[in-house]
Amino acid sequence: MNSLFDHIKIGDLTLENRIIMAPLTRMRSVQPGDIPSELNATYYAQRASAGLIISEATQISPQGKGYPATPGIHSQQQIEGWKLVTSAVHKNNGKIFLQLWHVGRISHSSLQPNETLPVAPSALPAKNSGTYTASWKPTAILTPRALETSEISGIVNDYRQACLNAKEAGFDGVEVHGANGYLLDQFLQDGSNQRTDIYGGSIENRARFLLEVIAQAIEIWGSNRVGVRLSPYGTFNDMSDSNPEALFNYVFEKLSQLNVGYVHVIEPRATSAGGDDKVKNDAPKTAELFRKKFNGILISAGGYNRENAIETLANNNADAVAFGRLFISNPDLVRRLKDNLALNKYDRSTFYGGAEKGYTDYPFFS
Ligand SMILES: Cc1cc2nc3c(=O)[nH]c(=O)nc-3n(C[C@H](O)[C@H](O)[C@H](O)COP(=O)(O)O)c2cc1C
Repeated sequence: MNSLFDHIKIGDLTLENRIIMAPLTRMRSVQPGDIPSELNATYYAQRASAGLIISEATQISPQGKGYPATPGIHSQQQIEGWKLVTSAVHKNNGKIFLQLWHVGRISHSSLQPNETLPVAPSALPAKNSGTYTASWKPTAILTPRALETSEISGIVNDYRQACLNAKEAGFDGVEVHGANGYLLDQFLQDGSNQRTDIYGGSIENRARFLLEVIAQAIEIWGSNRVGVRLSPYGTFNDMSDSNPEALFNYVFEKLSQLNVGYVHVIEPRATSAGGDDKVKNDAPKTAELFRKKFNGILISAGGYNRENAIETLANNNADAVAFGRLFISNPDLVRRLKDNLALNKYDRSTFYGGAEKGYTDYPFFS
């Protein structure tokens, strides 16, 4: 029976425990240029006792950006900024993967190069969803421009370059963001993909883009150092699919064959971006549902506390558990869970943007 506090090996990488810091967008990179700084390095280093830190989602290209002040991994200044982060985490004996992000239709023209429309598989807006303008005004999602088939190889290449840049920046690996209704998820699910070329229609076609990106990441990093995040049955950013079970069974089987380091699923019971604290207890249990389809390491995220995380590992429904909101407010979450100590409450008003407040000033247990 595995415990949260046992080590786990991802290929040749040993994680000290099975408590993973989930990727968390905090919109605090240096402007202009979306550059990580010493402040970001301090935040991540404070949380280095996690078995593995997965960085906040990080745009692979200017086109991949969807919110103000999210960091990038496409310029030399950004690579130098990330070096501050990775070396601070390593100094504190932590491990950190970079989450690779292209938001697709979840952007606003004010954030796009030359103020053009955001891009997507099809010209379908995400209904009832929002983002921010470049000047931080909450805004509705625009109707995006459908990508030409010939443009897709260029985006795959942006992912490849981002993988090379992540290596130069000193990360331990990369996580491909295939979840939460961003570009790769938009291609996977037929609620947002109505294409008729080789990237649309059948499940095989809709999964092609994701698998092409993963193939590039594996070429650069080796399969063990590539993780993939998925959110089957997630509805955030207006996602839907006519047959999620068939779609994700196929994706998990492919990821098994590719021998990726891990797959990281988000349980649809929890809000995927922390918009509220509701828990949908009748939502499908995705780690349990897809566990048998995948023969590698499975990380489960979404609505975990000490009790249900311990239970999930004891029941062998996952190999490790990721915590999001609790890691925001508890830099020493691992110790607190281990010794069953009280937890700091998070302040939702400081999730996005700002500086130290609600970021590096949450106290360690004393
Ligand atoms: C402030 C905030 C930012 C988030 N940013 C990301 C992100 O950059 N990438 C991602 O895959 N998920 C992101 N998520 C989702 C979390 O990784 C996680 O799946 C979610 O919070 C549910 O886990 P929890 O119940 O432990 O908080 C974010 C969530 C929150 C609250």
